[in-house]
Amino acid sequence: MELGVNIDHVATLRNARGGLEPCVLDAALIAQRAGASAITIHLREDRRHIKDSDLDEIKKNIKTNINLEMAATPEMQQIAINNSPYSCCIVPEKRREVTTEGGLDVFSQEDYIKDFIKPLHKAGIVVSLFIDPDEKQIFSAHNCGADFIELHTGAFANAFNKEGEKDEFEKLKTAAALAQNLGLKVNAGHGLNYENVHRMLEIDGLIELNIGHSIISRAVFVGLERAIEEMRELIV
Ligand code: PXP
Repeated sequence: MELGVNIDHVATLRNARGGLEPCVLDAALIAQRAGASAITIHLREDRRHIKDSDLDEIKKNIKTNINLEMAATPEMQQIAINNSPYSCCIVPEKRREVTTEGGLDVFSQEDYIKDFIKPLHKAGIVVSLFIDPDEKQIFSAHNCGADFIELHTGAFANAFNKEGEKDEFEKLKTAAALAQNLGLKVNAGHGLNYENVHRMLEIDGLIELNIGHSIISRAVFVGLERAIEEMRELIV
């Protein structure tokens, strides 16, 4: 399985002091060197971590695939088209949330998402939808013409080593199989860490995991390159 490394929280740390360190581009270069299959950044509408200038610098200096997470807004669509990342992962966004709390509700805005995807495809961008492991969301993602879904693993991560783990895990496994049967490619992410990630190996056909917080946290103690290598070793 491939590992997309989300470096948003390098920017969170930088922004805590408003200066230039730690350097987000350096983090992207290290992730590239450590074998990340994608550098994932979430350009939030409030720019609370990644900023437009980070996207610009990463785009200019990184050869590894860039996966741009973004809300389905006209502003973000234009930024994606102007910067042409390898892929866009469309996520829901609420201003007050600490992190992306749930999957995108594709079901109730199918026409909007379908139209939103078209210009991205026209610009040659691969499109992924970040959704909960829910049958109706998967059918809608397929109807919208998405290339990938990224299954939201947050509920599984919260239930890990607790009573609900089995149910949450089964939801992911069933959802991945359904999506693959429809021809969608399947990634997963959110809340995955060095303890729970091994369970993703039990889900057939997952292509890439997107992991941020736990890798950046571990990097504080062992360095970013080693933190990424350790995670990669767990998912080969
Ligand atoms: N995938 C998506 C779509 C996300 O929004 C996030 C968080 O920004 C992640 C993966 C990574 O989650 P975490 O930081 O919990 O590893």
